[in-house]
Amino acid sequence: MKITVLGAGYVGLVSAACFAEFGVETVCVDPNAEKIAALLRGEIPIYEPGLDELVARNVRNGHLSFAASMVPAIHDSDAVFIAVGTPTRRGDGHADLSYVYAAAQEIAANLARYTVVVTKSTVPVGTGREIARLIRAANPEAAFDVCSNPEFLREGSAIEDFMRPDRVVIGCESARAASVMTALYRPLYLMETPMVVTGLETAELTKYAANAFLATKITFINEIADLCEKVGADVQAVAKGMGLDGRIGRKFLHAGPGYGGSCFPKDTLALARTAQDQGAPIRLVETTIDINARRKKRMAERIIAACADNVRGKTIAILGVTFKPNTDDMRDSVSLDIIPALQEAGAIIQAYDPVGMKEAAKLLSRVSWSADAYAALTGADAVAILTEWNEFRAMDLTKIKSVMKQPIMIDLRNIYKPEEMRTAGFVYQSIGRV
Ligand code: UDX
Repeated sequence: MKITVLGAGYVGLVSAACFAEFGVETVCVDPNAEKIAALLRGEIPIYEPGLDELVARNVRNGHLSFAASMVPAIHDSDAVFIAVGTPTRRGDGHADLSYVYAAAQEIAANLARYTVVVTKSTVPVGTGREIARLIRAANPEAAFDVCSNPEFLREGSAIEDFMRPDRVVIGCESARAASVMTALYRPLYLMETPMVVTGLETAELTKYAANAFLATKITFINEIADLCEKVGADVQAVAKGMGLDGRIGRKFLHAGPGYGGSCFPKDTLALARTAQDQGAPIRLVETTIDINARRKKRMAERIIAACADNVRGKTIAILGVTFKPNTDDMRDSVSLDIIPALQEAGAIIQAYDPVGMKEAAKLLSRVSWSADAYAALTGADAVAILTEWNEFRAMDLTKIKSVMKQPIMIDLRNIYKPEEMRTAGFVYQSIGRV
């Protein structure tokens, strides 16, 4: 089978490399010629564990190639995947679909045989039908079907998520399109991965509902964590006790500083806006958005409070700046709220992140970037852990104490144990544990 994937961003690149790994002849297209030239040289523009080897292997064996134009690849493709960006539109919180519709117009102009046009990008309900209308208007002769096939990839484990998903959602309205899609996912079909084949709108909404639910689940445990601190309970034990109930599940119950990243903030906002526009507002999601935004803003206050309410002239070490580990993605990372607020309060920031510093340096100013975690801690009055990178989990506590001016730690990811830290002589604060 042959496919064209439009967009060599996060979703496009991972999807293209994984389909190629399935044995599908895949061309990944991006109008950014520089990006394509870099990919052809074997340079991967994003940090995703395992992606470089996957791309290199499939380029070598001829399953994967890159191009700056969708022509001629689209002419003999069984399916074309739209995996372009859908950023939050400025001003109203809706997803900006201009890249998606531009891709649809270009597809319309170049369809040469029956092709399934698939949306992989997260698009609001109704977008698939609008794409079909645009293509039909621009090219009435075209033989095509539109299909929604949302991705559920987590940054840092995207390849595993693609290769061993909990389910594949396919939204289409013709048996012909469904058979192309199931053939593409045949290796997963053989592994008995559940395939949810449904209508277009249902598939589109499923993606938003899943992300909004996960964001709400995190927000729920974050609020329980705040209560734990007041009543002397331990949020990790509460989460375990709740999560062992099969109806609830243990995942996405880690209390922290609030969710960030490229999906949850954007998708919850877009879902809330769509629901409002349709006259069926989802107040639970609106509240989640509000609570999470406030929570992220409040995190700097916690750090300041741990420093006896005064950080003026004090050096604060920050460990981890990306929105989660195993990525260099800074989008909606809590560090973007915390670091400027600490600076505003007069703190001097020494920070370290294993892979995110290059991206972070573009967004944060007056930060002294350190070569490693201990360098960031040297001379610091307090340390705040913002991202749970593995290398922060087992640091040498004696060494930390010896390099810091004062052993104050604010652990926003609960990676250390309160008793152990106190025994080691630290003033230690975490989330939802006393
Ligand atoms: C998410 C979805 O998981 C994925 O299915 C979707 O396709 C894209 O969005 P991603 O943004 O890569 O993936 O990261 P995820 O692991 O879901 O974490 C998102 C945010 O929630 C991070 O800031 C993370 O720190 C936070 N989080 C996650 C928590 O605070 N607690 C948790 O228990 C889980």
